[in-house]
Amino acid sequence: MNRIFSGIQPTGNLHLGNYLGAIRNWVGLQDDFESIYCIVDLHAVTLPQEPDELRRNLREVTAGVVAAGVDPQRCILFAQSAVPAHSELAWLLACQTPLGWLNRMTQFKEKAGKHRENAGLGLYAYPVLMAADILIYRATHVPVGDDQKQHLELSRDIAGAFNRQFGVDFFPLPEPQIFGAATRVMSLRDGSSKMSKSDVSDYSRINMTDDADTIALKLRKARTDADPLPGVPAGLAERPEAANLVGIYAALEGSTVAAVCAEYEGRMFSEFKPALTELAISTLAPIADEMRRLMDDPGHVDGVIADGAKRARAIAEPILAEVHDILGFLRPGRG
Ligand code: TRP
Repeated sequence: MNRIFSGIQPTGNLHLGNYLGAIRNWVGLQDDFESIYCIVDLHAVTLPQEPDELRRNLREVTAGVVAAGVDPQRCILFAQSAVPAHSELAWLLACQTPLGWLNRMTQFKEKAGKHRENAGLGLYAYPVLMAADILIYRATHVPVGDDQKQHLELSRDIAGAFNRQFGVDFFPLPEPQIFGAATRVMSLRDGSSKMSKSDVSDYSRINMTDDADTIALKLRKARTDADPLPGVPAGLAERPEAANLVGIYAALEGSTVAAVCAEYEGRMFSEFKPALTELAISTLAPIADEMRRLMDDPGHVDGVIADGAKRARAIAEPILAEVHDILGFLRPGRG
């Protein structure tokens, strides 16, 4: 049986990059796999969080994921902190993880910055918790963006180390499902930097809650160049803004950059932008409407993830009990 696990950070200001880069892929997978989707609040607190903002972001991300089409009936959608087995397995796996492996993690180095001595232990152990997220469900497949490839590799190594240490074939080595490169969405103002929630200019991104008029305005103002569209993707090299808009079009349409180039060869952006706007509005505006509706009903959103947590615990707890047996812990008195 194939089981998918994936996680998303509870960040505010969900934007097109989050949608095309992660959330939309989840929607497509839920019919083909048993899918478990987790909002990773325990990972979020590896960096400082303002509690009220975290609460708001958790509901916003849940609303965004559901509005985008992840169906909480057909998959399991929950918040990580509601399933304590994640944290407990993370500890047990930490005991099987050599420091040398963690020292190679590039994301830790980036996030810890210059003063590595001041970084929290949680930030350092982040990849171990991520391994626990996946392995506590014995998931076989993990859809992740490119930036999480190294962490997933480590999850495989940790699963293998556990199996070897105890002479078992207990944890499957999770297979990455890396999302396509075309879904790397860049800023609408600067094609060389990623679309980001923290960019000071709201015109740099399309938020998942933007209405049709706002989407149209932002795309009209999006930076381009004066050349016509090329017939092949190679013609987009050295044209980051043009490449970004063509990439967004292809991703929204579910086609390829090559197909979009072939269709629009020789046309100017004055012609391409309105087509992109129409496509973006027809795809994104209904999601934004639904997302705003859900965000106005936090009680419903909380209910969705409460139900998900119950179903997640029902899978995770027996697996954790088996891990206890493998390690040699005693059964009496276990809850
Ligand atoms: N670290 C991932 C990210 O920042 C989120 C995440 C946490 C995750 N646990 C996971 C992704 C398990 C896949 C599987 O995007």
